[in-house]
Formats: sequence, structure tokens, C-alpha cells
Amino acid sequence: MEPLQTEVRPLQVIAVANRKGGTGKTTLTVNMAAELAAQGKRVLLIDLDTQGHCAVGLGVKITKDTPTVHSLFKYPELGLQTSIHQTAYEHLSIAPADPLYEHGEGLRDNTILRSALAAPEMSQQFDVVIIDTPPSHDILLLNALISAHWLIVPYVPHPLSFEGVCQLTRVLFKIISGDNKNLKVAGFLPMMAAEHIRVHRTVKKKVAQQFGASKVLPGIRNDISLAESFAVGKPIRYFAPKSRAAEDFATLREFLLTLCP
Ligand SMILES: Nc1ncnc2c1ncn2[C@@H]1O[C@H](COP(=O)(O)OP(=O)(O)OP(=O)(O)O)[C@@H](O)[C@H]1O
Ligand SMILES: [Mg+2]
Repeated sequence: MEPLQTEVRPLQVIAVANRKGGTGKTTLTVNMAAELAAQGKRVLLIDLDTQGHCAVGLGVKITKDTPTVHSLFKYPELGLQTSIHQTAYEHLSIAPADPLYEHGEGLRDNTILRSALAAPEMSQQFDVVIIDTPPSHDILLLNALISAHWLIVPYVPHPLSFEGVCQLTRVLFKIISGDNKNLKVAGFLPMMAAEHIRVHRTVKKKVAQQFGASKVLPGIRNDISLAESFAVGKPIRYFAPKSRAAEDFATLREFLLTLCP
């Protein structure tokens, strides 16, 4: 008799990036991961930023002996498996960052993460991978962009941030025409947005003009509960389910589910 074939769906990889610091990348990554996991998607969050804040946001304690994703960039033969930890949240795992990893350390290879994610056990264990990236243009960012199917760019709607978005898109076009033809921009996501502030409306309009209105994703309004939820290591949907940030993440979730149906 033929062995039963279990269907393995292709793993969807979403990178969150903006070269500008403090645009909400980590807040977005942690909460997007929690939203999708709560829908039953098996999510792996990969934290490439050595600030290591994703583990903090999910209440995962890291010690100097905790295996981290950054080992991969020194010893690619290790694969990702040893660095994956289950979080307190069902379906949500994390490959945390190594705060002691020196940028520039490791191999000069942009494809290490993509090769590790191509291992069959990754698509057997997970439906979605979400990658948080450092606010820099380095080999870690390139590894994320070369591994991803989708890119989400959070930006704070003010003029300097728009410049950061334009800079990132220049890097992006190089990647899409070179190493990763499968990469698509899912969209630009206004973070800490406030419709009553004129400059916010103006910058949002500029992004829509430059990249198309369909590329402006449902934003996350300014809400201090996001900072508070981070401090106690809980995604917003559990920390303050009635907050406006939780409401915004619930709206965003519907969009995210279209990327990984
Ligand atoms: N929608 C929001 N409303 C209020 N505060 C927010 C919101 N989004 C993020 N923040 C706060 O803004 C600060 C920066 O956010 P975050 O760390 O997620 O940005 P980042 O892009 O990951 O930063 P870095 O570039 O340093 O990695 C944090 O204090 C966070 O709590
Ligand atoms: Mg960050």
C-alpha cells in the first residue's frame, strides 16, 4: 500500500524592515506573530536585530547560554532548529537574537538564512516565518530580504521617515532584480499614526502617490499600551484587548491572513 502523503504547505516568509530606527518594526513583528498564532497559524518569529527586543516583547528569558539565530551566521551547518524556542503562546515560537553578536562578525554570505529556511523540517513545523530586522543596511538585513516572500515596511508618517522608506526601496529594487525575484512588497504600514495631525496625512498621501494606494496598509495608531505591553512581555491582544492598538492589530490580521491563507 502507498504511504499516506501528508500535505506540506509552502512556508510563507514575511520580513519587517526599515533602515530608519524606531519606526515600530519590533512592536509590529511581535504583535503580527501573536495575531497569526492566535488564528492557529504555526508561526516562527526570527529576531535578526541584536538588540534582542522580540524576546523581551514575548516574555522569553535569554541567558548567555541560550542558542540564538545569530549562531547560524558563524556556523551555517547548525541550521535553525537548535535556536528555536516555544513561547508561552500556543503556535508561537521564536529564534531569538544574540545581544553579544558583533555586526560584521560571521560569514559574508547573504543566503545563509534562506538556505536554513529551505530545510524540509521548517515547512513541516511552521506555516509562517516573520523576521524582525536591524535598523541598518548590513548582511543581516540582506539575509532577511533574500529569504522573504513578503516585505512590510512600517514607517512613522513624518517627512524624514518618508526619506527612509525611499532609501529602503532602492535596496529593494536591487534585490528583486537580482538575488530574490520572489520578493514582493506587501505594503507600507503607518505606525503611531494620528489622522488629526496634518503632516501625518500629508506623508501618508505621499506614500500612496509614490507606491500606489493599495500599498498603504491598515496602520497602527499611537497607543501607549503598546509600550506598556512590551514592558511586561505580552502581545497587545492579551495585555489590553480593548485598546485601540489591539483593535488596529485585529484589522491588520485580516490583511496578513491574505499573505498566508
Ligand atoms: N503605535 C505605537 N504607539 C505608541 N508607541 C509605539 C507604537 N509603535 C511603537 N511604539 C513605541 O515606539 C518605540 C520604538 O518601537 P520599536 O522598538 O518597535 O521600533 P523599531 O523600529 O523596532 O526600533 P529599532 O530600529 O531600534 O529596532 C518603542 O518604545 C515602542 O513601544
Ligand atoms: Mg527593533
